[in-house]
Amino acid sequence: MSEPRVRDVLQLQPQQQIVTVHGWVRTKRDTKNVTFFELNDGSCLSNVQVIFDRSENAPLAELDRAQTGASVRVTGTVEASPGKEQSVELHGTALEVIGEAPADSYPLQKKRHSFEYLREIAHLRPRTNTFGSIARVRNALSTAIHGFFQDRGFIYVHTPIITASDTEGAGELFQVTTIPLDALARSKDPEVAYEKDFFGRPAYLTVSGQLNAEVYALALEKVYTFGPTFRAENSNTSRHLAEFWMIEPEVAFCDITCNMDLAEEFVRHILRHVLDDCAEDMAFFDKRIHPGLLESLRHVAESPFRRISYDEAVEQLEASGVEFEYPVSWGSDLQSEHEKYLTEVVYKEPLIVTDYPKEIKAFYMKLNDDERTVRAMDVLVPRLGEIIGGSEREDRYAVLERRIAEMGLAPENYWWYLELRKFGGAPHSGFGLGFERLVQYVTGMQNIRDVIPFPRTPKNAAF
Ligand code: 4AD
Ligand code: MG
Repeated sequence: MSEPRVRDVLQLQPQQQIVTVHGWVRTKRDTKNVTFFELNDGSCLSNVQVIFDRSENAPLAELDRAQTGASVRVTGTVEASPGKEQSVELHGTALEVIGEAPADSYPLQKKRHSFEYLREIAHLRPRTNTFGSIARVRNALSTAIHGFFQDRGFIYVHTPIITASDTEGAGELFQVTTIPLDALARSKDPEVAYEKDFFGRPAYLTVSGQLNAEVYALALEKVYTFGPTFRAENSNTSRHLAEFWMIEPEVAFCDITCNMDLAEEFVRHILRHVLDDCAEDMAFFDKRIHPGLLESLRHVAESPFRRISYDEAVEQLEASGVEFEYPVSWGSDLQSEHEKYLTEVVYKEPLIVTDYPKEIKAFYMKLNDDERTVRAMDVLVPRLGEIIGGSEREDRYAVLERRIAEMGLAPENYWWYLELRKFGGAPHSGFGLGFERLVQYVTGMQNIRDVIPFPRTPKNAAF
């Protein structure tokens, strides 16, 4: 028979019923006559308080072994709690220590630890309040994302992790090979024998599932991917990871406006979902991590996103008189400092910026009639800047072929992608939401390394 979770026990009416729960000791306090435990099992942020009378019949030896960090099983009666933190508590009758945690070496002591320190003990950090809450919110967000698309008739497509094409054309690829690099280093041959490599050609970890998603959108109309993506970007920032998860919807018969409507509805839907579904964890983030978080997210969930063109964005930045680290002029890519300035200072709300210069965007974006800009759309939010990047796709064969050449990409890698424009092509659009940026935005956490269980960043792949 399965034992109840702490979350269920905390909902009970106190009627002295006997329950058995298991979990990890968060804190323990002894007085002469009583021992108090806070027990947590990850089912919710709250602990259940357990009180043992240190009488003759008490399991005294086990009580002494059950130090902070130990895993235990406790049986007790459910009683009304005099404390105002919780309505019920357990009066312990039996205790079994399942796994000890020696007090002199357990790294998670009661004091507050810095997030930097906790990154070094990533195998234990989910046992803290913050990381438990992040895991639950991450889970709720994934569910909300699937729910949003499933309710609207989108098909979840599993796009490949290993690929031969560089979707973003930015050259930030991790190569996948079975060629022994040590032997290669010793060999005198300057050419790599790719025909002998596993795939018989250079292959990489995907930076985006988009091109494959387009194939399915041009058959099933509405699809999405939700999977890991990889970028060998040497960016040591609080919003870049080498391995991150991306949600990429792709819709046929949908232009840039329909794409913006979808992105906006999507973000607002998942915010509402997590605010409702994770009230306890969200209140914790509001109190401990980012005061004002709840109010700002509620506001975003209820109001339409402002839409401006890249031209207007650049005008605003130029007129600001601010000395940015990267100066702005028409044609330059927006850096996170610019994105944050626009959302935090100028508009004070999320923003969709459209129609970027073609030179700073990927080859597949639809060229506007001005021939200088493309139908791109980035969603920017306060605190983070870009959270979504998307576009209407170039659906004209000849223009796409020309853009591939202009961007210096190898056309032979994109023959199938081009053929989608030759056989039953249709206007279509999509976008990519960086899942960890979303989790950051929702939790108020400052560093992206703290919203993914095991972060991979330059020079760091431990755990
Ligand atoms: O803007 P990006 O590069 O767009 C694409 O990959 C398109 N293929 C998406 C599409 O249209 N289907 O990336 C999309 C999002 C960014 O807005 C950002 O949120 C996130 O992915 N992202 C990263 N998140 C964490 N670490 C990184 N290194 C990221 N690079 C991009
Ligand atoms: Mg982008």
